[in-house]
Amino acid sequence: MKLVIVGTGYVGLITGACFAEFGYNVICVDKNNDRINKLNNAQCPFYEPGLENLLLKHLTVTKLLSFTNSLSEVVADADIIFITVGTPTKRVENQADLSAVWEVAEEIGKKIFNYTVVVTKSTVPVGTTLELKNILSSNLESDKFDVVSNPEFLREGSAINDFLRPDRIVIGTNSKKSENIMKELYRPLYLNETPIVFTNIETSEMIKYASNSFLATKISFINQIADLCEKVGANVNDVAKAMGMDKRIGSKFLHAGPGFGGSCFPKDIKAFVSTAKKYNIDFSILNAVNDSNAIRPINIAKKILESKKYKKGNTIAILGLSFKPNTNDVRDSTSLKIAKLLIKKGIKIKSYDPKAMNNAKLEINELIECKTAYEACESADAVIIATEWNEFRALDFKKIKEKAKKLVIYDLRNIYNPKELRDIGFEYYGIGT
Ligand SMILES: NC(=O)c1ccc[n+]([C@@H]2O[C@H](COP(=O)([O-])OP(=O)(O)OC[C@H]3O[C@@H](n4cnc5c(N)ncnc54)[C@H](O)[C@@H]3O)[C@@H](O)[C@H]2O)c1
Repeated sequence: MKLVIVGTGYVGLITGACFAEFGYNVICVDKNNDRINKLNNAQCPFYEPGLENLLLKHLTVTKLLSFTNSLSEVVADADIIFITVGTPTKRVENQADLSAVWEVAEEIGKKIFNYTVVVTKSTVPVGTTLELKNILSSNLESDKFDVVSNPEFLREGSAINDFLRPDRIVIGTNSKKSENIMKELYRPLYLNETPIVFTNIETSEMIKYASNSFLATKISFINQIADLCEKVGANVNDVAKAMGMDKRIGSKFLHAGPGFGGSCFPKDIKAFVSTAKKYNIDFSILNAVNDSNAIRPINIAKKILESKKYKKGNTIAILGLSFKPNTNDVRDSTSLKIAKLLIKKGIKIKSYDPKAMNNAKLEINELIECKTAYEACESADAVIIATEWNEFRALDFKKIKEKAKKLVIYDLRNIYNPKELRDIGFEYYGIGT
């Protein structure tokens, strides 16, 4: 089977590299020439554990993977075309911006000659894949193609494992022919007993948004519980642990923190709310999730500022800038939101992140870049642990005590035992404890 993947972002590259790992011939396309040049030299455009090795293997050893900027040249040979371009939030409204999807649709419609399955793997609102069918139909006979929805559930930071060992695969089709082709494509996972949900196209598109929205709701829920815990002397970590032991609830995504960020949850919830509004459905739950998450970094920055009356000229260290560990992605990172708010008040921010420093500097030029966590803490009036990278989980606080100006820790991920830090002499503030 010959596969073409359009878009070489997180989803496109992982999809391409992992399908090559299954043994398929894969061509990845992107209109970003610089990215394609780098990829042809096996340079990964972002940090994702294990990806560079996989790219190198399939680019140079198996030669199953190749990269091009010319979509029109590769469409005709494809059995399946995956659309994995970005679907960000529109600048003015909260809808998903589908312009990149439509651009790809216009281009491929003119170049398909033999029967081809066109798959939306990007996260797209209900109705998009059938709209894609309409666009393709303006250039193509109906027996020359089918459209399929196959949303992606990978998480940055563990994307390869998520793709190769998913909890489930969702495939939305409206033809038996395309369903059988998708079944054959995922046969290597089917053999591992990965559940595959076959459904109609609208349901498949809906499953992706409903899943992300539910996870975001869990996070916002426990964050508000954390706020109440702080007022009444309860401990949110114990609340979450005991709640999670209930199999009906589950322990995942019940960690109180500074709010969710990243390239998916914030934009997907906005797009989902926008879809509901279009059909006059009251999505008050998700509106509340949206609002509470938007205000969270603002409240946290305010609380930090007020706790010790920090003012212009104070220095605070921020450890962790990516929106989560094991990625250099800073899109919608709460850590950067808090940094911006503190900088606005005249606070100097010394920062360190194992991988996201360069991306963070592109967003906030004022960040003082440090080479280690300890360098960031040097002469700092306080330390904020903002992203729970493994290397921040066992910091030597005796060493930090010697370097820092004041001994204050804001642990926004609750990764430390308050008593241990207080015993060393730190003033410790967690979330919901
Ligand atoms: N990042 C994630 O963790 C994740 C997980 C699941 C689903 N998704 C969804 O997958 C989609 C892609 O996300 P991403 O994070 O990989 O995006 P991304 O922004 O990292 O990458 C998108 C890529 O598409 C390319 N592109 C845009 N228009 C193009 C065109 N006309 N022709 C060729 N290439 C084009 C861009 O140059 C870019 O390299 C989104 O809909 C997202 O919501 C993302």
